[in-house]
Amino acid sequence: MENNELKVPRHVSIIMDGNGRWATRQGKQRLEGHFAGVESVRKCATAAARAGVEYLSLYAFSEENWGRPMEEVEGLMSLMMRCMKNELPTFMDNNIKFKVLGNYSRLSVALKAGIKALENATASNTGMTLVVMLSYSGKWDILEAARKLASDASAGKIRPEDISMDDFGARLVTNGMPDPDLIIRTSGESRLSNYFLWQAAYSEFLFTDVLWPEFGEKEFMEALEVYSRRDRRYGKV
Ligand code: FPP
Repeated sequence: MENNELKVPRHVSIIMDGNGRWATRQGKQRLEGHFAGVESVRKCATAAARAGVEYLSLYAFSEENWGRPMEEVEGLMSLMMRCMKNELPTFMDNNIKFKVLGNYSRLSVALKAGIKALENATASNTGMTLVVMLSYSGKWDILEAARKLASDASAGKIRPEDISMDDFGARLVTNGMPDPDLIIRTSGESRLSNYFLWQAAYSEFLFTDVLWPEFGEKEFMEALEVYSRRDRRYGKV
């Protein structure tokens, strides 16, 4: 899609990193960094929807993050719960459809109900889809897909030799979504940290030193400009 010469990616994904360091530098508790991070989510979701991005996915909590101190995990889960209750106006004002993908078996009953309510309330919005990756990891996603395929094969529904890339992709939680065109990671770390291992095969990467609570509309639009100048060849010449 074109927007004032800008080549707008269909799917932008963000590894939101640096909340803890931002808080520590301000002499605040780590959780306050996550609270500030919600404001960046709001700013980037609004900017992305306005720019014509179709999918914005956010790595909000990895399977590995369950290993953080209990106080931080509980704080993050209650922050998520609060977001499910408070963010409806932002999504309705910007015609955003909301979705959460990840390992639901580890989420509380109350959080699952909050997610379902927000997904249902925004289901008929027709603009951008905001996808929060929660209790997610790339290896978990691939393993689950392999298990489903193995189970389909042993039930005689599919022959192992017939399994295609599309059959595999259809069993990942991102089924139906385009692969991310652009993956942004904030806070100066240059790694994928068990994120979209399958889906990132041909993604463009952008690593920035800016900490997530300081990443707003200006930084998001600059990232789209950088993407716009990239030459994507998908292994061809
Ligand atoms: C990484 O920073 C960030 C997280 C683990 C949590 C991200 C969550 C939010 C921004 C809040 C809510 C999000 C949504 C979608 C409603 P870090 O804590 O690893 O930072 P550090 O590396 O500086 O310690």
